[in-house]
Amino acid sequence: MRTEHSTAPVAGPSGQGATGSATAVAHPNIALIKYWGKRDQRLVLPWTSSLSMTLDLFATTTRVRLDPGAGHDTAALNGVPATGETLRRITAFLQLVRETAGSGVRAVVDTENTVPTGAGLASSASGFAALAVAAAAAYGLDLDATALSRLARRGSGSASRSLFGGFVVWHAGAETGTAAEADLGSYAEPVPAAGIDPALVVAVVDAGPKEVSSREAMRRTVDTSPLFRPWAASSEDDLADMRAALRRGDIDAVGEIAERNALGMHATMLAARPAVRYLSSATVTVLDRVLQLRREGIAAYSTMDAGPNVKVLCRRADAERVAGAVRDAVPDDTVLVAGPGPGARLLGEGT
Ligand code: DP6
Repeated sequence: MRTEHSTAPVAGPSGQGATGSATAVAHPNIALIKYWGKRDQRLVLPWTSSLSMTLDLFATTTRVRLDPGAGHDTAALNGVPATGETLRRITAFLQLVRETAGSGVRAVVDTENTVPTGAGLASSASGFAALAVAAAAAYGLDLDATALSRLARRGSGSASRSLFGGFVVWHAGAETGTAAEADLGSYAEPVPAAGIDPALVVAVVDAGPKEVSSREAMRRTVDTSPLFRPWAASSEDDLADMRAALRRGDIDAVGEIAERNALGMHATMLAARPAVRYLSSATVTVLDRVLQLRREGIAAYSTMDAGPNVKVLCRRADAERVAGAVRDAVPDDTVLVAGPGPGARLLGEGT
C-alpha cells in the first residue's frame, strides 16, 4: 500500500455533550468482495461479509447543526433541499442518533458531494459515513471508529466501510442471537495488505440516476433469484481467498477474485424475477478492453456495482496505460484514476 491511513478512533467531543455543530468528510469505497442482500432490513445486516478499498476521489463533506427551534429536520445536497425518500432516509438516521443521545432536537444538514449521485459510484457510502461522524459529534455521542461504522451501516450498508481508509472488511456478524448481539457483530475494520500499490481506473460510462435503486434490486435478488444463495456461499470463500491474497501482496489474485465476485453478483440479479440489468453495452466494451489489456500482459481486472460504470483494478505504475486504453474504448466518457483514500474524519467542532 502506498500510503498509510490512520485507523485511530474518530473522536467525538468526549464527555463534553453536544457541540451543536460539526462537519465531517468521508470518501466512497469500491467493494472488491460485494455486499449484496440484507438478512435484516431494519438493522441493515448483510447476508455476507464484504471487503472494499476506500478511494481518494469524490469526497463528501457534511455539516450537521442542531436547531432547537425547528419542528423537523432539513437537509440540502449540493445546495438543493432534499425531499422524498432521500430526506426520509436522512431523518430516520438522525432519529436513530437522537434516540442514542437522548435528544429531541432537530438538525439542519448540509452536504457537498463531489461524486455523481445515483450512478453506482456509492454516493450513499461517503454520504452516510460523513453524516454518521458529523451527527454523532453534533449530538455529543462519544463513539470510536468501530461504533461509528455500526452507526453508518444503519444509514447505508456500504457506508460502514468508509469509516476506514485503504482496504476494509465489513463483517456480516453471526446469524444467531438477539438483535443487539447481531448489531454489535456487524462492523467494519481495516485489513492488512502487504506491498500492494493499487489504483482503480474509474470509467463513468453513465452518470445519470439508475432505474432500479440498489436497495430495491438487492431485495428482489434475495427474494427471487435462484442464484443468490450459491453466490452468497461462494462469496464467503472469495473473501477468505481475498484476505490471503492481500496478505501476500498478490495483486493478480486480488484482481481475479474481485472480478469473479462482481460478475457473480451481477449474475444473481440477471436471474432475479424480473431481472435487474445494470450493465450496458458501454460496460461490455470496457470489459472487453480490460481482457485485451490482460492479453497484453497488464494486470487489470474489472468490477461493477449497481450501475454500468466499470472500475478497473491495476498496479499504480500501470494506471495511466490502463486509463489510456479505457479512454480509447469509450472516448466520449469520463475516465478517472483513483488511489487508496483515507477514512472518515471530523473536520473540527463548529466548522
Ligand atoms: C453493489 O450500501 O448502497 O455497491 O445498504 O441498501 O444502502 P443499502 O445499499 P448500498 O449497496 C451497495 C451495493 C454495492 C456493493 C457494495 O458496495 O458492496
